[in-house]
Amino acid sequence: MEDHIKPLVDAYNDAAEMQAVGMVNDPAIGQVARELQMLQVSTPRPVKREVTVKIAASSMHIDEIYAAQGTALGRFYGPKNVSQSNPARIGSCATGTIVGLGDGAENFKIGDNVIIIPSEYPQAGSWATYQCFDEKWIMHKPDQLSHLEAAAAVMAACVAWGAIGFAKVNAGDNCVVVGASGAIGVMVLQYLKSLNCRVTAVCSGASEEFVRSHGADQVVDYTQDDFGEVFSVGNDPVDAVFDCVGGRDIETSAFRCLKNSGTFVTVVGPRQYIGEEKLSWPAVLKVMSHIGWRMLVTRLATGPKYSFGAKFPRLVVDDAVEQLLEHNIRMPVSAAIPFEIDAIRDAVQKLVTHREKGRIVICFGSD
Ligand SMILES: NC(=O)c1ccc[n+]([C@@H]2O[C@H](COP(=O)([O-])OP(=O)(O)OC[C@H]3O[C@@H](n4cnc5c(N)ncnc54)[C@H](OP(=O)(O)O)[C@@H]3O)[C@@H](O)[C@H]2O)c1
Repeated sequence: MEDHIKPLVDAYNDAAEMQAVGMVNDPAIGQVARELQMLQVSTPRPVKREVTVKIAASSMHIDEIYAAQGTALGRFYGPKNVSQSNPARIGSCATGTIVGLGDGAENFKIGDNVIIIPSEYPQAGSWATYQCFDEKWIMHKPDQLSHLEAAAAVMAACVAWGAIGFAKVNAGDNCVVVGASGAIGVMVLQYLKSLNCRVTAVCSGASEEFVRSHGADQVVDYTQDDFGEVFSVGNDPVDAVFDCVGGRDIETSAFRCLKNSGTFVTVVGPRQYIGEEKLSWPAVLKVMSHIGWRMLVTRLATGPKYSFGAKFPRLVVDDAVEQLLEHNIRMPVSAAIPFEIDAIRDAVQKLVTHREKGRIVICFGSD
């Protein structure tokens, strides 16, 4: 064990309790920030095949908030029976250093710097001093990325690279990224540029400089123009549209301008900001059947294909990180905040406005 690691391990072994952000009441929708507390909880100890990570950085994303309030997919796996004795913990996209090994954990050693592989169920509880993870959810952090850079990028990298995999783009392809100024969109944009595609970013005029600085060749301001019209009228048909916003209007615009051989990939589906409200079960079914139906009919007919672009992060994470390193792709960090409850509540309030450029990252002071 290296000299600087021993104090970290000793501190972990001596800590009976630690701090973790969580809720002790079920939040009303839109009230997660108000319910979040800094809890004093027992320090977790690794069980079979688990490792303990001293968290160094943990990024924040909207689906964690949706999960916490039981909307969107959080409806299925969100916290249940939240109480003082059963707090709901939050946070899932993190990096850190291994300070504990459970029995049978053999792929990592104490002192390794690691990334927690994002889960499709974002409730790992990584807004905390320590957390234990099955070692199948851990990967080594490449030295080229700081803890902050890796925590900021990894989840969106998996979503973006996974979505691109559905479209099978080639160099020179004409691609459109809707919502290119958001965290997922700016990663899709950078990955497409790394594949030498021509990329149009669809975002508000206020975000033009931001998307251009991340490689956009052209910008369509959705508050002024409909990209479907811009491309169909300009007779410049599109090979792939990546939708990082959601909603039927975007799908309609995309199908107006896609080539017959083109692909529409959405990471959201037919409802924008789907987690802002709790959908009735019939509304959930309507969303799911729309996705299933569109995938089916566009494959039975000639013309552009519809794809719901979600892949399990663990299936794409290695390739996503490799491409990111090779092409120096980074997630812009809009704020690096301390592990303090007021800063975290403020950040959650910002996150739900959907106006953050890139990621907010909680830094635990060890990077
Ligand atoms: N399927 C998956 O695995 C998966 C995983 C993670 C996230 N998601 C989903 O992906 C979505 C994006 O998340 P995020 O964290 O990147 O972003 P976000 O914070 O919701 O940002 C979305 C961006 O979209 C832009 N926007 C809003 N309305 C638009 C419109 N009509 N046309 C074009 N752009 C528009 C905004 O740009 P301006 O500020 O420029 O207006 C904003 O920058 C969320 O709905 C999230 O739930 C899916």
